[in-house]
Amino acid sequence: MNTNPPKRVEHQQTDKGYVPVYTTDVVEQPWAGYSATDHEVWATLFKRQREILLGRASDAFLLAQDAMGMTPDAIPKFDDLNIALGAATGWEIIGVEGLLPELTFFDHLANRRFPVTWWIRKPEQLDYLAEPDLFHDLFGHVPLLMNPVFADYMQCYGRGGVKAHGIGPEALVNLTRLYWYTVEFGLIKQADGLRIYGSGIVSSKGESIHCLESDAPNRIGFDLERIMRTRYRIDTYQKTYFVIDSFEQLMQATAPDFTPIYARLASRDSIPAGEVLATDPVFHRGSGEGWLNDGDV
Ligand SMILES: [Fe+2]
Repeated sequence: MNTNPPKRVEHQQTDKGYVPVYTTDVVEQPWAGYSATDHEVWATLFKRQREILLGRASDAFLLAQDAMGMTPDAIPKFDDLNIALGAATGWEIIGVEGLLPELTFFDHLANRRFPVTWWIRKPEQLDYLAEPDLFHDLFGHVPLLMNPVFADYMQCYGRGGVKAHGIGPEALVNLTRLYWYTVEFGLIKQADGLRIYGSGIVSSKGESIHCLESDAPNRIGFDLERIMRTRYRIDTYQKTYFVIDSFEQLMQATAPDFTPIYARLASRDSIPAGEVLATDPVFHRGSGEGWLNDGDV
């Protein structure tokens, strides 16, 4: 662990837009250094999201967040959360200064360590930030690590990432799409309706409502290879959300070795973010309202 005071590593704004800046140090959370404004930003976002997420986020997410002892009162101490998290699934939160290079990130996940950015956004960034901060990482990603099945899925994903990194860039593109459409933007079918479990959604006020209630996006049943071929949006709401039946389904679908899947997909075209295929199990066919034609990545 680096003992220097942690830096706040942010993406750089250039004439080509935001350029990611990577960092690898693991740091002690400088909890005593958070300002009253930092704690206020946490409290405001926490209360606002929890209100929106009741009836929208999956029960598993909401229950886990409560079980960890996350509250709006103050920015949680990683050490406190780690007691509950370690007891539940053996995962551990580690502090980082910003975005990690892919392989470093995969290696942490493969060892049941979840990197959380130590710093929180500024009051004028409540609704949007180009990069992950403490609110996205801690509020969005950490609660479901309390769920034993989802916790195993995240570790398998990390191992798969290390492996894909060794196979090549195309395999990594396939795998990144899986992360995007499950861990970041996944929906789950509960007995009482569709619910959110993806971190990118639960940490966004607008998308929490849009993903479930807007006519615009497609909502389609989970299919591993289909997802691995599907491009996505990084600058707008998603055009398509994929719905799992359960975390067990996710775990089972992703248990096999992906190497033959990557080989098979190498000769197939990618699918545009908003396209619906004849073979898709469609929950809702999006109206496409407000979609930009280009910009899928
Ligand atoms: Fe994330």
